[in-house]
Amino acid sequence: MHKIALIPGDGIGVDVTREATKVLRCVSDQHNLALKFNEFDLGADKFLRTGVAITEDEWTELARYDAILLGAMGDPRVPGNEHARAILLGMRFRFDLYINLRPVRLFHPRFSPLRDIKASDVDIVIFRENTEGLYVGVGGQFKRGTADEVAVQDDVNTRKGVERIIRAAFEYARAKKRRKVTLTDKANAMEHVGELWRRVFKLVASEYPDVKTDAVYVDALAMNMILKPADYDVIVAPNLFGDILSDVAAALVGGLGLAPSANLHPGRPGLFEPVHGSAPTLVGTNRANPLAAVLTAALMLEHLGHPEVARSMESAVASAVEAGDTTPDLGGALGTDAVGDRICRRLAG
Ligand code: NAD
Ligand code: IPM
Ligand code: MN
Repeated sequence: MHKIALIPGDGIGVDVTREATKVLRCVSDQHNLALKFNEFDLGADKFLRTGVAITEDEWTELARYDAILLGAMGDPRVPGNEHARAILLGMRFRFDLYINLRPVRLFHPRFSPLRDIKASDVDIVIFRENTEGLYVGVGGQFKRGTADEVAVQDDVNTRKGVERIIRAAFEYARAKKRRKVTLTDKANAMEHVGELWRRVFKLVASEYPDVKTDAVYVDALAMNMILKPADYDVIVAPNLFGDILSDVAAALVGGLGLAPSANLHPGRPGLFEPVHGSAPTLVGTNRANPLAAVLTAALMLEHLGHPEVARSMESAVASAVEAGDTTPDLGGALGTDAVGDRICRRLAG
């Protein structure tokens, strides 16, 4: 029995989580998996209603689950994004989920905005550091609202944090027989942090002589991923750069509607969420693509010990997009709910 905490969250998070859960119920019936879901009311509505994003009791309760499946957090009524930082970054930090795994694969050349591309040209896995960097909230404001105001946001990089994400990327490359790990940074401008990442990368790489390596400045990588995506395989990145590059990578394969992610700390329960956000303009349109959430649910089952079920879900997604059974962002004419139904139908037969 796997206990899953569901956090649909805000905006289209609700729609895509509904479809991902529908597909999970279909596969669990088919493969005799015992999944128990419990939905958490967390998000902008609750924050606006109560003034509190998440309580200590909710933290305690969430920690009891085998996995957390989240839709999205973010709402125009909370312009400062306080609740999303408290809940989403809160889970990443509190549960020390230091690996943000973001795989992207091109299912069919017609989904890529690039010309002359083959499906095999894009198969990239980003290992985004998920507990440090510019996201930790260290800093402050001084003389706010005056002509002399100052804002500081510190980039925090610990030896332990840098080493464990780099090691995770190499372990993955070795286990999955990937050819190369690319480090990305901005060591030419940010020398203190850059030197630490490069030194530790070299040190860890020396333990994996079977894996090729390179190091590319993040500005150049953002360009190269578009010009020659086939050069990249596993990418390891500090928190902010990993965030930006994962949207670039998603664009290469058809957009955010196809990009899943897992927040992991090996041996602990993970948090699984699509890379996309709450897409406020799509709310209530039945146009949100639920496939990123379905692929995210597959990642979750893989990490719960069911890789064969995960592969069957990925195959169902591949065959649905190939057949054009998609929402409009991928050129189809189906609604969010119909896409979920088609995936279930494919899984059944
Ligand atoms: P977004 O990912 O919500 O949307 C970016 C673009 O992609 C929009 O054009 C949107 O319509 C499209 N898009 C996204 N998901 C889609 C889907 N499933 N199907 C079809 N089209 C899709 O990013 P944004 O607009 O920058 O942010 C909106 C809100 O979401 C903000 O509050 C932001 O902070 C939040 N956000 C949350 C997460 C998360 O919870 N993990 C991730 C990113 C952004
Ligand atoms: C993501 C999102 C979040 C991030 C935001 C909503 C804080 O963009 O998961 O990619 O920057 O990590
Ligand atoms: Mn992002």
